[in-house]
Amino acid sequence: MKSIILAGGVGSRLWPLSREYYPKQFIKFKSFKKSLFQMTFERCLALSNNNLDDIYIVTNEKHKFLVLGQIEELGYNNFNEDNILIEPIGKNTLPAIYYGVKVIKNKNNNNENDNNKNIVGVFPSDHLIDKNDEELFINTIMEGKKIAKDYLITFGITPTKPHTGYGYIKPLKKLNIGYTVDEFKEKPDLKTAEKYIKNGYLWNSGMFLFDADLFEEEVKTYKPELYELFKSDDINEVYNNVPDISIDYGIMEKSKNVAVIPLNIKWNDLGSFDAFYDEFKTDDAGNIVHGENLFINSKNNLINTENNKFTSLIDVNDLIVVDTRDALMICKKGSSQKIKEVFNTLKRKN
Ligand code: GDD
Ligand code: MG
Repeated sequence: MKSIILAGGVGSRLWPLSREYYPKQFIKFKSFKKSLFQMTFERCLALSNNNLDDIYIVTNEKHKFLVLGQIEELGYNNFNEDNILIEPIGKNTLPAIYYGVKVIKNKNNNNENDNNKNIVGVFPSDHLIDKNDEELFINTIMEGKKIAKDYLITFGITPTKPHTGYGYIKPLKKLNIGYTVDEFKEKPDLKTAEKYIKNGYLWNSGMFLFDADLFEEEVKTYKPELYELFKSDDINEVYNNVPDISIDYGIMEKSKNVAVIPLNIKWNDLGSFDAFYDEFKTDDAGNIVHGENLFINSKNNLINTENNKFTSLIDVNDLIVVDTRDALMICKKGSSQKIKEVFNTLKRKN
């Protein structure tokens, strides 16, 4: 099978740790030795029997060398640069995925005898998957291949809270593998998310598996203008005109051919500092802090400072503090989705 790794996001909700030039998928967080991108890359290699040529990375010019550098760091010096697809501008996940699918389809015309040649997995580069669950992850994706000719497969995670930043999937009829899907709803409001959780919906993990021809059919049906634009060979022209749209809103909410396979792994879209807080071990007072510190009567805080600066907190709870060389960000726990607004304001100023 082929893998498309999405590595074009800027990680605006993790500012100031994540920057336009150094987004979160490439950061090596203190707790892991590799970046999220590198861990994603290794999982994709395992899905393809270590065949480097099966992996495609969709990113932008600014990050091309970060991508190559991080692959080299893993010990692969011969990764084919043609497999790094450069988007002139980010237009969200549907154009990024369709770009990858088109390139894979074109290439495969010359390679008729591989039965799985057109099966494509899509993997965001910024998800954390527990090392202990990697085998289950690989096995579940491999199983999915059996129904990938007939369905756009999503992988469903059992929800733990009514998160409004995720897609929600309602399984319907049991298939040999997985379920057909009754409803796919992207980013519902809080009330709806609460209702969904009671009614057995699953979270969309953001990873997909499908046959490239089937995917193209669905794009043609539900986003005909995008399908037409991508017929051009001039990628700049395509991206200048293509709408900004995610695969979730553009295809998954509409398609009648969606299936879901439950994926019971420890998974976290490290999309915000609140998600970070949930992921890492706290001390007895619920604080997460690296480096030396003195906290007095302070609970449930997340502190991240460059160079492990000495930190002290007094009589404050539920704060997120991120201190870097040139920027300091302090926000209340639970509000970290709004950091995106700061990032966007700064971007407009520059
Ligand atoms: N190449 C490229 N170009 N990649 C992109 C672009 C783009 O324009 N925009 C986003 N990405 C990458 C991001 O870096 C990330 O790895 C992935 O695509 C998903 O984008 P997000 O922006 O993080 O999406 P989301 O988290 O809001 O929602 C998606 O993921 C959730 C699970 O994490 C949806 O699929 C939800 O339904 C899902 O629950
Ligand atoms: Mg995300």
